[in-house]
Amino acid sequence: MESQHGTWSNRLAFIFAATGSAVGLGNIWKFPYMTGENGGGAFVIIYLLCIACIGIPIMIAEVMLGRMGRQSPINTMLSLSKTYGRSSAWSSIGWMGVAAGFIILSYYAVIAGWILHYMFLIAQGHFTGADGEFVSNTFSDFTADVSLMMFWFTLFMIITVTIISRGVKRGLELFVKWAMPLLFLLMFVLLGYSMVSGDFARGVTFLFSFNIADLSSEAVLSAMGHAFFTLSIGMGAIMAYGSYLPRKVSIVSTVGVIAVLDTLVALIAGLAIFPIVFTNGLQPDAGPGLLFQAIPLAFGNLPAGSLFGALFFLLVSFAALTSAISLVEPALAFFVEKYKMKRLYAAIIIGFTCWVLGIGTVFSFNIWSDFHIVQSMTIFDFVDSVSQKILLPFGGFLIALYVAYKMPVQAVIENLDLAKKHTHVWKALIGVIAPLSIVIIFLHSLGVFKLIF
Ligand code: TRP
Repeated sequence: MESQHGTWSNRLAFIFAATGSAVGLGNIWKFPYMTGENGGGAFVIIYLLCIACIGIPIMIAEVMLGRMGRQSPINTMLSLSKTYGRSSAWSSIGWMGVAAGFIILSYYAVIAGWILHYMFLIAQGHFTGADGEFVSNTFSDFTADVSLMMFWFTLFMIITVTIISRGVKRGLELFVKWAMPLLFLLMFVLLGYSMVSGDFARGVTFLFSFNIADLSSEAVLSAMGHAFFTLSIGMGAIMAYGSYLPRKVSIVSTVGVIAVLDTLVALIAGLAIFPIVFTNGLQPDAGPGLLFQAIPLAFGNLPAGSLFGALFFLLVSFAALTSAISLVEPALAFFVEKYKMKRLYAAIIIGFTCWVLGIGTVFSFNIWSDFHIVQSMTIFDFVDSVSQKILLPFGGFLIALYVAYKMPVQAVIENLDLAKKHTHVWKALIGVIAPLSIVIIFLHSLGVFKLIF
């Protein structure tokens, strides 16, 4: 059976699309600033552990569910549950994912708008010869400007809607084939710059020296949530992409490739940014503005920096776009299946809803910056935390339980092409280690019990 929405032409096309989904603002914008806020190395190690022990098994499970169901996540969960005699309530994985996708895209598009704005600023030579104070001021002036931020946010939303209305296969493959390798290349240029002119040793120490005393239970939860976010798992995006995957492709090795690429991009971004942060007296815990201070500094002081800097931000905006596309695919596929809607109309409805939601995030950086939903959380902090720390891990938890305990073991083993000697490892990971770790990290962050950190 094939999906009514089409199929990837081959394994490589899926790798491109899934990597396009995984690599995005999460790696380049979010990972560095979260690492900075959570004290460096200890956060990084926990994040890497979460990728390996929780993220990869759940990603494998999610892709597999998609390929078995061949529909939008909601209908995939419905039809698989019907086949295996399970409650239709399992489709809530799909519904929750649709909600999470809307919430994430609403703020994701705002930040992507920042990227577009910075592309133009750099291209105009705004940062040539800039110092730390100048880039910080530029950032705070920009975030204070509501209409400018609304403009770029709206533009990014329009571009996203235009692209998704044309279908996943068209456009996307081509996009990722060129943009992704180029992005890698430019990240290495940045890395080279920060090795030569930044405090590279301090950056490396910051990123990789593990001090357990630095760890708070909140940081552990953030690291786990980020593992979900960066791999695009827990909400059905990768399930939807899996539903377009040809039968013969090996899911396990393919997911391995995607996870390694995704992690590499994040680590390179961290290695490029922190040395620049330290030499220029920026604050590692500057929050969401970190990237927008460090990167302009680097390009502002590089020969032909305006050109390369603009190209860098252009490529990051491509990376953001290929991620944004995957955030709406579950909802879009569902609308098309359920209401026989044209992709264009479904895309417009979803895009408009996310745009309305996103206005809250725009305002939380300026006119509503003093408006707190709970404790000291602005709207942006709130939507970011709820999606990343609660919705995605919970979705992933349910996916793990479903695959481990609600499906015939044999069907799973066949679908994943698992060798006999690997089945125990798989069962331990998906049935025990991944779901149990999620529960422990979650309860720990609520203060239900106390481990060493
Ligand atoms: N992984 C993307 C990033 O790192 C963001 C993203 C795309 C995502 N699709 C997702 C996050 C689905 C969670 C779920 O930028």
